[in-house]
Amino acid sequence: MRCLDIVPPPANAWRHERIKYVTGDVCDEATLDALVEGADCVWHNAAAVGPFHPRELYFKVNYEGSLNVVRACRKAGVPKIVMSSSPSTRCSKLVERCRREIAERGSTERKLRDS
Ligand SMILES: NC(=O)c1ccc[n+]([C@@H]2O[C@H](COP(=O)([O-])OP(=O)(O)OC[C@H]3O[C@@H](n4cnc5c(N)ncnc54)[C@H](O)[C@@H]3O)[C@@H](O)[C@H]2O)c1
Repeated sequence: MRCLDIVPPPANAWRHERIKYVTGDVCDEATLDALVEGADCVWHNAAAVGPFHPRELYFKVNYEGSLNVVRACRKAGVPKIVMSSSPSTRCSKLVERCRREIAERGSTERKLRDS
């Protein structure tokens, strides 16, 4: 099993001879090509999560990174991808509520992130 994350594994990460931790960016083509080579299945959970990141980061990591996973898997002939999406993509009322709360507080996503 190979695990990719942009953050290095914590000191208490599960260590096993069949687990290899790779520190890198899901958006990087060469990293992904090497990572998925020979895999039976890829679980894609890498994401910018939470409302506090710059908007461009969500697009880069969550959209372009996901496209990169699909591209690399197609190239390597990986037969299966399991992707963790979010119910937020379907809950427009929740998104509207978040936007309203941000507006009511007189804040912005960027200000909230930096506070
Ligand atoms: N936690 C939940 O309850 C929940 C519910 C529904 C959906 N999801 C979805 O599951 C996915 C993961 O969520 P999570 O709660 O585990 O979040 P998380 O923040 O714990 O995990 C995301 C991981 O992605 C890594 N990451 C961020 N940018 C990266 C990059 N450029 N390259 C490589 N790794 C990167 C982060 O370091 C982090 O370890 C998301 O797509 C989220 O929408 C989570």
